[in-house]
Amino acid sequence: MAAMIGRDLLSLADLSADEVQQLLQLAAQLKSGQMSLRCNKILGLLFYKASTRTRVSFSAAMYQLGGQVMDLNPDVSQVSRGEPVQDTARVLDRYLDILAIRTFEQQQIETFAHYAKIPVINALTDLEHPCQILADLLTVQECFGELAGLTLTYLGDGNNVAHSLLLGCALVGMNVRIATPPGFGPNPAIVEQSQAIALSQTEVMVTHDPEAAAKGATVLYTDVWASMGQEAEANSRIPVFQPYQINEQLLNIADPNAIVLHCLPAHRGEEITDGVMEGSQSRIWDQAENRLHAQKALLASLLGAN
Ligand code: CP
Repeated sequence: MAAMIGRDLLSLADLSADEVQQLLQLAAQLKSGQMSLRCNKILGLLFYKASTRTRVSFSAAMYQLGGQVMDLNPDVSQVSRGEPVQDTARVLDRYLDILAIRTFEQQQIETFAHYAKIPVINALTDLEHPCQILADLLTVQECFGELAGLTLTYLGDGNNVAHSLLLGCALVGMNVRIATPPGFGPNPAIVEQSQAIALSQTEVMVTHDPEAAAKGATVLYTDVWASMGQEAEANSRIPVFQPYQINEQLLNIADPNAIVLHCLPAHRGEEITDGVMEGSQSRIWDQAENRLHAQKALLASLLGAN
């Protein structure tokens, strides 16, 4: 993975199809113990939003690689007092070896990456969640072997997770269907980008029909109906999004061997029922574990661990 050393991961589209496959292969080898890598570097976590999985899995991955982690809470640094991003980025660049940022605007992370020479990783923005989707693809690969030709259906809000799924599925040759209520569809520019990446035989569907999207799908996937920063709309969204809930009826029209994924945290009884979440087709806990392995592979590749 020498070609990835020193690069940023701001969007899943920053990776080629081959690089995604190589990262998944490395993640599987690290998970199984077939491969062990070390790198004595420092990871900074600059998170402007709450996180459990991303924060802990990045930290555990870096410690397991032999590195160190600094949690750069914006509330106790000059960042929260308005120090310009271009100044903070150039200073952090002098102390750290790699930086993972969770924030609101994609533009902010792009500015960080422009001014910092160290690798910058998107740990979630309003536009994308690329690290989540690397773990998701690893989970699907573990269940089915091959990714190409499978069909992933995402139901719910056309948010950052939907955007990175569009790009990730297109990169690995999976059919991708995004079913949202009218007015909540994915960013058209990301849909176009995914269509441009996808091979001619790969389906990229955006629809308002949850049943058409779920029919025969190999993976059903959902996320909360109101993301961080949209809490004020949460109650008014519930009736609008109700037809997009992953429940037993919807699971019955998917492929009989379908698996169910959720990036978490979940609002049980809203976007997914308790029964499906705890049911035999759920792979949600493996998916959460795979954040660790996928991000360890990413850190190792960007830092040139050996
Ligand atoms: N899925 C995910 O990113 O979880 P956290 O918000 O807990 O990091």
